[in-house]
Amino acid sequence: AEQKATNVHWHDGEISRDDRNRMLGQKGATLWFTGLSGSGKSTVAVALEQALAAKGKLCYRLDGDNIRMGINKNLGFSAEDRTENIRRIGEVSKLFVDTGVITLSSFVSPYRADRDLVRELHDQSGMDFIEVYVEVPLAVAEERDPKGLYKKARAGEIPNFTGISDPYEEPLNAELVLNSHEMTLEQEVETLLNLLEERGILN
Ligand code: PPS
Repeated sequence: AEQKATNVHWHDGEISRDDRNRMLGQKGATLWFTGLSGSGKSTVAVALEQALAAKGKLCYRLDGDNIRMGINKNLGFSAEDRTENIRRIGEVSKLFVDTGVITLSSFVSPYRADRDLVRELHDQSGMDFIEVYVEVPLAVAEERDPKGLYKKARAGEIPNFTGISDPYEEPLNAELVLNSHEMTLEQEVETLLNLLEERGILN
């Protein structure tokens, strides 16, 4: 999105991100979970948050349905609205990372360009962005159908439903792919913890 406001200037405070990290004893990062509805994004984020909390690491989860009831309640599922949804969440994730929090963002985020924009926003500010593709075959997600949405989408009651009548563009360069239908939740969490360890986020 273009910046609309003119005559605005960035102000730095006297306390830096490094200062905050020292106060908190940790460094922030965004873990971005993308995948079909019903792929298990939220489930793995909830479990990872618990595992990190047990290690004394402060996390915050941002999740599709919740965000769409608050900050993004004016957005639907058109391509434009999804793009704006992801852009805002990308900015919110950055704010959390700037405070030192490990941010677990779970959104379908079906468009590659939208995810790449969030990555770029983080890169520009020297923040870690870890894209995690929670991959399941559509048939598996549809079989799970925890909210009955696939059934409705097949019946034509939900337009632009990801995987059915709207595209999902698979990540090409995700830091991690979790084949959630072939792994236990414990294995997924273990894999994520190992990655965070390697990236120096658990120090
Ligand atoms: S997006 O594409 O990233 O902006 O979507 P997100 O904010 O993650 O919201 C996805 C959840 O909203 C429900 N839902 C839909 N998903 C996809 N397409 C359509 N048309 C749609 N309508 C409602 C759905 O339950 C998604 O939740 P999850 O938790 O992913 O199953």
